[in-house]
Amino acid sequence: MCGIVGYVGEQNSAPILIEGLKRLEYRGYDSAGIGILDDGRIQLIKEKGKVSVLESEMKKRQVIGTTGIGHTRWATHGIPNQVNAHPHFSSDDELMLVHNGIIENYKELKEFLIQKEYIFKSDTDTEVLVNLIHFFYVNNNNNLYEATRQALLKVNGTYGIAVLSRNNKERIVIAKNGSPLVIGIGKGENFIASDVNALITHTKNVIYLEDGEIGEITKDSYFIKSLNNDSISKEINKIEMDLEEITKGGYPHFMFKEIMDQPISLNDTLRGRTILEEGISKLGGLHGFEERILQSKRIIISACGTSWHAALVGEYLLEKCTGIPVEVEYASEFRYRNPIIEPSDTIIFISQSGETADTLAALKEAKRKGALVLGIVNVVGSSIARASDAGVYIHAGPEIGVASTKAFTSQITVLILVALLLGRRKHLSIVDGKEIIQSLNNLGDLVNEILSQNSEIERIAEKFVNAKNFLYLGRGIHFPVALEGALKLKEISYIHAEGYPAAEMKHGPIALIDENMPTVFIAPKDAIYEKVISNIEEVKARNGKVIAIIDKDDKYVENLVDHVIRIPRTNELLMPILTVIPLQLLSYHIAVKKGLNVDQPRNLAKSVTVE
Ligand code: AGP
Ligand code: GLU
Repeated sequence: MCGIVGYVGEQNSAPILIEGLKRLEYRGYDSAGIGILDDGRIQLIKEKGKVSVLESEMKKRQVIGTTGIGHTRWATHGIPNQVNAHPHFSSDDELMLVHNGIIENYKELKEFLIQKEYIFKSDTDTEVLVNLIHFFYVNNNNNLYEATRQALLKVNGTYGIAVLSRNNKERIVIAKNGSPLVIGIGKGENFIASDVNALITHTKNVIYLEDGEIGEITKDSYFIKSLNNDSISKEINKIEMDLEEITKGGYPHFMFKEIMDQPISLNDTLRGRTILEEGISKLGGLHGFEERILQSKRIIISACGTSWHAALVGEYLLEKCTGIPVEVEYASEFRYRNPIIEPSDTIIFISQSGETADTLAALKEAKRKGALVLGIVNVVGSSIARASDAGVYIHAGPEIGVASTKAFTSQITVLILVALLLGRRKHLSIVDGKEIIQSLNNLGDLVNEILSQNSEIERIAEKFVNAKNFLYLGRGIHFPVALEGALKLKEISYIHAEGYPAAEMKHGPIALIDENMPTVFIAPKDAIYEKVISNIEEVKARNGKVIAIIDKDDKYVENLVDHVIRIPRTNELLMPILTVIPLQLLSYHIAVKKGLNVDQPRNLAKSVTVE
C-alpha cells in the first residue's frame, strides 16, 4: 500500500512532493513525510496523520532543496505514529528511504544488522532495508546504486523504493518488486511516483518499472537495469489523463462525484464496443483470443472486495450466455489452497487498481500453471493489466474514493460485453444480442433517473444514522449486489452489515431481526420476485424495518415496507448496474450524516498492494 513520490530537478522540491502526496493519499493516510536533500544535508519532516498535517508543519519551516522523496503510509509493520512514518534514515543519517510493500525476511536481516551495531528507532520493516543498503554502501565506496542492488538481492518480499544519500547528491535510486513504480520524464527534471496521478501536472511521459528492475534518476538522465546489473531499454508511454479527472469538480467528496458520474463512466466503458446490427460486442483487447476462451473447459474469475462482487455477477452472466461452467475465487485465497488449474482453463482477474497484491499473486500462479490469463482492469498500464495475456480496460476514469462505486458498474458492463462476445459464438441469438445492446445504449438515461432520487435517498439515510447493524438481502444476480451494498456501508459508515441470499435468511440471520434491525431488500420484478416478497413478509412479521429497492411500477411492496427506492426496468442482465446505485447513495449519505471521512475511511486504502 502507500504512495511514494520523488523529484530531482531545478525547482524547489517540497511543493511538488506535497502535491504528489495529496494525489496519492487515497493509497494510504496513516502518516506522511518528506526528505529533502540540500547542500549535503537531508532535512526530514514526518507527521502522523494526513498529508495536510505534514503540509501545515512544513509551513512553519523553511525547507528548500531540489532533490527529495515523499511518502504517505498505510502501516503494515508498526503502529501509525511519527517514528514509524517514512522516510526512514539509516542509523548514521547518511541514507534515506521511502518504501511501499513488505520486507518479509526483515527479522533475520534486523538481527544481522544489530550484530553489526546498527541501531533501530522504529518498528518498521522499512528501517531494516535502509540499514541493509547502508551496510553495502560502506562496502561499495558509497555507491548508492550498487549498495541498493546488493541489498535487494538479500531481500524477500515486495517493494517500491526510492533512496537518497548525502554523498550522492541530485540522484534518487529506485527499485520495484510487487509494488508499482513509475518514472516521469521531464525537461531538466525527473520524477518518480507510485502512480501517474502524482505526475500528470508535470509530465505526460512515463516509464513503468517491472518487477526485478532497479534504476537511478538525476535531473537530466535515468537508467534502468535488472538486479543482475543487465541494462534494460524501456519504452516511454504517454499518459492519457487530464487533471479534471482527478479533482472533485465541485462535489463535496470524490465518492459522491464518482457515484454521480456513472452515466458518463458507463458511456466511456461502452464507447465503440458494440455492433448493434450483429448483436455482438467488439473488444480489441480480446481479439485473437476468442476461440481459445470458447474452448476452455472452465472459466474462473478471481478478484478481491468489490471486484469479487462483480466477479459473482460475471459468473451468472457468462454461464447464462456461454454455457461454459464458471467458478469465482477470492484472489486472496486462490494460490494458498493450491487450486487445480489446467492449461484448458481461462482465468479472468478483475481489479480496479490493477495493483492488488493478492490478485496479482493469484494471476502469476495461474500463468505458471499454463492457463489463459485475462485482466479486466481500470488503471491503464497497471501491473495486472501488463501481466495478463489479454484483457479489457473498463475505462471508468480514475476512481479516487476508497469505496469503489463507478468501477463496479463498469466492471459489470465489461463482463456483459465479454458475455455478449462469447455468447454470440455459442447459443445467444442475434435477437437477444441486439436487445442487450439496445439496453446498454439506454443505460445512461436509466442511471440518471435513479440519481435524480438522491434527495429522497438522503432522507431515508437520515433515519438510519444510529443503526448498529444492517442486513442486505437479494437473490440470483442480485445476491452479489446485496454483498456490495453491505460492504459499502461497512467501509464508510462503520456500521456492521451483512449481505445474504434472501432465502438463506431463514437459516440463521432471521434470529437477528427485531424493530432495531434494518433490512435492505433488492426486489425488482424478476423470476423470483414472489419468493423475495415472502422473505420481506417474514421480516415484517418480526417487526424489522425494511428498505426495498423495487421496480418503479411496483404497487404492492410499498404497502408492505417502510421505505422504497424505485428503479426503472431494463434487460435482466443489466439490472445489477441499476440496483446497486441506490445502495451506494444510501451508504454515502449515512456516512456523511455520521460526520465520517467518506473518501478516506479508517484503516483502508484504495489499492491494497500488500498481502
Ligand atoms: C471497495 O470498495 C474496496 N475498497 C475494496 O474491497 C476493493 O474493491 C478491493 O481491495 C479490490 O481492489 P481492486 O479492484 O483495485 O483490485
Ligand atoms: N511495510 C512498510 C510500513 O509498514 C510500508 C507499508 C506501506 O506500503 O505503506 O511502514
